[in-house]
Amino acid sequence: MDRLSDSNTNPRLSAEVLERALHATDIMVVLTDPHLEDNPIIWVNDYFCQFTGYSREEVLGRNCRFLQGDDRDQPALRRLRRAIEAGESVNVQLRNYRKDGVPFDNDLYVSPVREEPGALDGPIRYFIGVQNDSTARLRAEEEVAERTREVHETAENERERFGMDLHDGLGQELAGVGLMLQSLIGHLEDEASGSTGLAARVLELVEDALGSARDMARGLNPVDASPDGRGAARRPRGERGAAGPCGRAMRGRGEAVAFEDRREARHLYRIAQEAISNAVEHAGASRVLVTLHRTGGSVHLEVRDDGVGVPEELAGEGDLVPVQDRAELARRGMGLYGMRYRADLIGASLTIRREANGGTVVRCVLPDGAAGGRAGHRTRSGERE
Ligand SMILES: Nc1ncnc2c1ncn2[C@@H]1O[C@H](COP(=O)(O)OP(=O)(O)O)[C@@H](O)[C@H]1O
Ligand SMILES: [Mg+2]
Repeated sequence: MDRLSDSNTNPRLSAEVLERALHATDIMVVLTDPHLEDNPIIWVNDYFCQFTGYSREEVLGRNCRFLQGDDRDQPALRRLRRAIEAGESVNVQLRNYRKDGVPFDNDLYVSPVREEPGALDGPIRYFIGVQNDSTARLRAEEEVAERTREVHETAENERERFGMDLHDGLGQELAGVGLMLQSLIGHLEDEASGSTGLAARVLELVEDALGSARDMARGLNPVDASPDGRGAARRPRGERGAAGPCGRAMRGRGEAVAFEDRREARHLYRIAQEAISNAVEHAGASRVLVTLHRTGGSVHLEVRDDGVGVPEELAGEGDLVPVQDRAELARRGMGLYGMRYRADLIGASLTIRREANGGTVVRCVLPDGAAGGRAGHRTRSGERE
């Protein structure tokens, strides 16, 4: 309190002391005179010159707008103009430029200085502009926003991967158990066994579990797995039952292929697994032929069935559809998308073809050293060189 009363009883600070104080601060200060043509700058502090790179002579007599460079279309400028016209205080964020052309974010406070000392309204003598370079602060805020986006994206990718593993792993295993159970029920019926009902009940439970696994997979990976947008798990049971394993011939052809990169082996395995599962589940095929070989350094995987053929709109050469395009993904089915996704991860090409005489061929070609050359560089549709 003493100090406050002291300062109140002190003689008024001289204009010179006040001016020295303003020159000493590391904030830009300008005074403009609205009574002169175009409201020009009539005073600037030292830091204004130091920061912007303009000499005092270069700025006195000019309107502040030269700081905007060619950036005249900033919405904040309209607010600033309106406030000056209305004689009100305002705070705006502007993009300004130093003399050397380097842009900076200007956190600008403009207030009217009244004719009457201490008056809150009445005639205006000057405007005072106090400006602070907020580039670093805005940069830091952007950085935080960017990091937050990255965290979300990572979590999203992780969920997507987990969903795919659920679909391709547990989902496929349950589908396999279901098919074996159907076969078992067939045998039990032939033997007129009293256990047929129990086995049928177990099959129902397995199919329910498969449905749950697929629903969870879809929840984790927002891709609707069926072309009609409803999902395989919700298809009538009978349809799946019609594609029973009895009498289906499954052949494998090829050689032992060694992989230096275990990722390549894992993804190719999952691709083959999904293609075989589709042939068994959807194609009503009587034969499925799987071939794997390495020729001239590149690995060739092919899964061929003689079933009804994949719907034309799902077939194709197709690069991986960008993940953002959910509608496209929903149309394509999660299993098929998963195959493309995995192929893309290891730098392989994937073709799903509907044969003229029926049946489907899924072909995946992994070029020599593909994954190594594409580490951290996932190509997407339209981005291939
Ligand atoms: N080998 C195939 N023969 C016939 N239809 C197929 C074959 N592979 C896939 N399809 C069709 O493509 C759809 C999408 O397959 P997919 O993405 O694997 O999803 P899901 O197997 O979960 O239904 C299947 O529902 C099916 O209609
Ligand atoms: Mg499938």
